[in-house]
Amino acid sequence: MGKAAIDPFAHLHDEGYADGFAAGYVTAATLVQGGGRPVESLAGPWRMTLDLFDEGLRQKWYAEDDTPPSQWPTPRDYEIEAGELVQVPSCWNLLKPEWTYFEGAAWYTRDLDWRSGASGERAFLQIAGANYSLLVFVNGRFVGGHRGGSTPCSLELTQALEPGSNRLQIMVENRRRADRVPMHHFDWFNYGGLYREVELLRLPATFIRQAAIALVPGSGFRAIAMTVKLSDPVDGSAVITIPELGVEASVAITAGEGRLTLEAAPQLWSPASPKLYEVEIRHGADLWRDRVGFREIRTEGTTILLNGEPIFLAGACVHEDDVTLGKTSNEADIRRRIRHARELGANFLRLAHYPHHELVALIADEEGLLLWAEIPVYWAIDFGNAETYADAENQLLELVARDINRASIVMWGVGNENADTDERYRFMAGLATRARLADPTRLVAAACLINRERFAIEDRLADHLDVIGINEYFGWYEPDVANLERLVANSDPGKPVVISETGADALFGHRGAGRVLFSEDWQAEFYRLQMAVIARTPWIRGMAAWLLYDFRSERRQTGFQRGFNRKGLIAEDKTTKKAAFAVLAELYRNQG
Ligand code: GCU
Repeated sequence: MGKAAIDPFAHLHDEGYADGFAAGYVTAATLVQGGGRPVESLAGPWRMTLDLFDEGLRQKWYAEDDTPPSQWPTPRDYEIEAGELVQVPSCWNLLKPEWTYFEGAAWYTRDLDWRSGASGERAFLQIAGANYSLLVFVNGRFVGGHRGGSTPCSLELTQALEPGSNRLQIMVENRRRADRVPMHHFDWFNYGGLYREVELLRLPATFIRQAAIALVPGSGFRAIAMTVKLSDPVDGSAVITIPELGVEASVAITAGEGRLTLEAAPQLWSPASPKLYEVEIRHGADLWRDRVGFREIRTEGTTILLNGEPIFLAGACVHEDDVTLGKTSNEADIRRRIRHARELGANFLRLAHYPHHELVALIADEEGLLLWAEIPVYWAIDFGNAETYADAENQLLELVARDINRASIVMWGVGNENADTDERYRFMAGLATRARLADPTRLVAAACLINRERFAIEDRLADHLDVIGINEYFGWYEPDVANLERLVANSDPGKPVVISETGADALFGHRGAGRVLFSEDWQAEFYRLQMAVIARTPWIRGMAAWLLYDFRSERRQTGFQRGFNRKGLIAEDKTTKKAAFAVLAELYRNQG
């Protein structure tokens, strides 16, 4: 007889209620790329019930039947229909004032009408992003979960779905915890919920799970390598076609994996000429498609070379943050970000501090913008915790698996401003190594700290990086801009440095001559002073202003800030440009 049957109050004393679910987390290895295949959107109204104390897991809300309240034999604490109707995707923080700062779990429920298609068809739930972790239940049965607040996951529903109506429940939880990535302290807003698309993907019994195709680095732009991974360890072959390159080739597949290198001389992708090629890979009944740009990014000494030509990355950082959408991005919001980057004269965006929506790199591919994509190994992390490393590495590998074919992404950032300890060094060197193993075609970077004793750019992590990121705020947090010159004079990094952040707060409309903090005038002067040093330092090969838009941060509570970090070149309305925007645009034009 079960514990509950003996003691109906057992759940009150059971703190092991969440044990076992983590074993059902899916990872990058099981991620299914969309591959241009049709999906059924599950966007729209879902019932949502907040669950601050994890009652849903303690009392197994997911296992309760649909008996109407009038016929309950015993009282309950959960009733699906009593939940609020909310739109998915969305951040719960912005749906009701009383939910603004909610940090806990929430139960999303909707009906899923299932009619199986061709025999052997498989069904996958594709969740593009939920912060921070999620558990999925179909008809009361746990089918899997995921952790990582900004990366996608694929959960197979095939065995759990019944013909006709099914109850689909997703528990999302956004608590900040010391063992998570990021940890519980960061300078952005902790949104929660199913904030990106939730879709159903139907696939044949054996399908293409992931595929990668790129120029072979160092091949003189004349060789393309591709890998294809199937859903199952079967032998056979796939056919890749790139019609515009006259490529049609068979790829031998052994135990579910195939590799092929073929000669080709594609028109190279670049910001000036963002050429994309239609690529198709067929295996059995499955067709995978993508539009891929072929380019080479590498470093040589202290320069960064794109297709063999030195480049300077002139740009800005940007958060996923919106006054009405929160962390949810839609296409209009993303296209506005890229338009503003263009108006700034930028060729580069740093997607801070976590994987952004998949559409950002897809549009950047079309528009010809270079991107630094990163995982939120941010400030303090529980660097000695193996589970925390596994979480960070999985977020990195999910980002790489999702965006591996995006020409616009030129570097993977493995961390930001992390104090140097032996545990941090091992953790981040491990991530850098893993990034290169997963993707030898891109650079690896991190925003490093400077050596304060020597006041120089020195970080042993740099031995594992291709590009050293430096966040510097000389003229803001450290008043004396001369310290930037001192840092440059003391440093000889031996590899390219990108100023991965530099900026000053400004409240729009607050003006003043000289170093008036939070004034538009000082923010503008700040960039003139930065560029005067950066432009004449040969080993600085990029600069990302911090940042494009003001964004929510609860750490910021002065009268100038009122819950926003105001280093944006544009206010949080994403319309009002501050004086610094035009000044920096001019500086970039002159730098070009
Ligand atoms: C740091 C940090 C950012 C933060 C910024 C600031 O460099 O990386 O995430 O928002 O400083 O203080 O504005």
